[in-house]
Amino acid sequence: MKIWQKNIDVNKDIEAFTVGKDRELDLQMAAYDVLGSLAHVEMLESIGLLTAAELAEIQKALKNIYAEIEAGKFVIEDTVEDVHSQVEWLLTQRIGDAGKKIHSGRSRNDQVLVDLKLYFRSCIEEMVGNTAVLFAQLIELSNTHAAKLLPGYTHLQIAMPSSFGLWFGAYAESLVDDMELMLAAWKVCNKNPLGSAAGYGSSFPLNRTMTTELLGFERLNYNVVYAQMGRGKTERILAQAMSALAASLAKMAMDVCLFINQNFGFISFPDELTTGSSIMPHKKNPDVFELIRSRCNKIQALPNEIAMMITNLPSGYHRDLQLLKENLFPAMVSLNECLQMTTYMLQNIRVKDGILDDKKYAYLFSVEVVNELALKGVPFREAYKIVGESIENGSFKPETQINHTHEGSIGNLCNAEITAMMDEVLSQFKFEQTHQAIEKLLA
Ligand code: ARG
Repeated sequence: MKIWQKNIDVNKDIEAFTVGKDRELDLQMAAYDVLGSLAHVEMLESIGLLTAAELAEIQKALKNIYAEIEAGKFVIEDTVEDVHSQVEWLLTQRIGDAGKKIHSGRSRNDQVLVDLKLYFRSCIEEMVGNTAVLFAQLIELSNTHAAKLLPGYTHLQIAMPSSFGLWFGAYAESLVDDMELMLAAWKVCNKNPLGSAAGYGSSFPLNRTMTTELLGFERLNYNVVYAQMGRGKTERILAQAMSALAASLAKMAMDVCLFINQNFGFISFPDELTTGSSIMPHKKNPDVFELIRSRCNKIQALPNEIAMMITNLPSGYHRDLQLLKENLFPAMVSLNECLQMTTYMLQNIRVKDGILDDKKYAYLFSVEVVNELALKGVPFREAYKIVGESIENGSFKPETQINHTHEGSIGNLCNAEITAMMDEVLSQFKFEQTHQAIEKLLA
């Protein structure tokens, strides 16, 4: 029996088609559904729609359900449409009439909106936490290997001297900008849609400021029509931030696959972290980074997938929106796994010394020779020509060239400045505030 069912039986095929994978995905939001209800009922009591005794009874029952969810004992039964209906059904079974009052001034449309925002907040917290760990690992590697030189490439052709310090540090700084975008996504997720009901509000005098505070939201979505329009938009913005982060990981994974290749041979990993071939006995393949690359490339498709699913939906609720969970939920899990795996692999990375001793990299320093002449007063374009000609006629002696290893950009990693930028962006997430509100709600 559906909570909306009157006296017609629903066709079984229609039921199966409309539910799809939704029950399974809804389970991931179950705890947040209960939290949303706890805030809603406290507010209903404050405006006289529940008595104090009814509120106490509902709160007790909701907290029991919350504990069952935490213990992994909560299920969405096959006869029940979704998590929202399951919680309401359990309440009605357990406390009768008081349970039937909980849905006043609410719709599953704003319920799912608030569940998603609470769930996204916790997923963002996890992604940010994993990013911070990876960041620290990269900075540590950058500092440890600051003086170890690497060839730098443009057009994938040997270009100018670089270093492991710069390479690791570059990805650390990339994560800072990814966190700037994630902070924007966090701000969008941290606005309360509850009280928008089916998307047009309610004639009850709902106190939306109260539920905003109870759930630890920073602000609210004021316009009830916009609150509903936030479904899809919120997901897309979050996916855009995830996509930026995934792009950093994918790019680094590609560099790793290149640098581990024998023709480069700059880095390696312990054998047990590589994989083998079923036919070629010598193979030590970087499958982990290939899969990080592919998973993260897949995540970069997510904003587009979401955009296509919501494009041209008119304002108001549509069942289309349900399917967004199928794309976004597994992507959040996957990105967290990629972040953790990248950190784990980097903890075990081995970096080669003396790479530039190989003659083939000698021309890396051609610009340094030009710069030396420029410092002596030769106009740069003139100096460039002199060195260029000496390379062409074979008089350039690369092996005698200066090793400008610790000057200029290579000697100036700015890791302290990069860390300060990261600390600043991370401090703006205010996770503690949300935890305190939730703890109070559950107390
Ligand atoms: N499973 C639905 C979703 O994710 C819940 C909202 C249902 N609302 C409705 N009007 N049918 O969108």
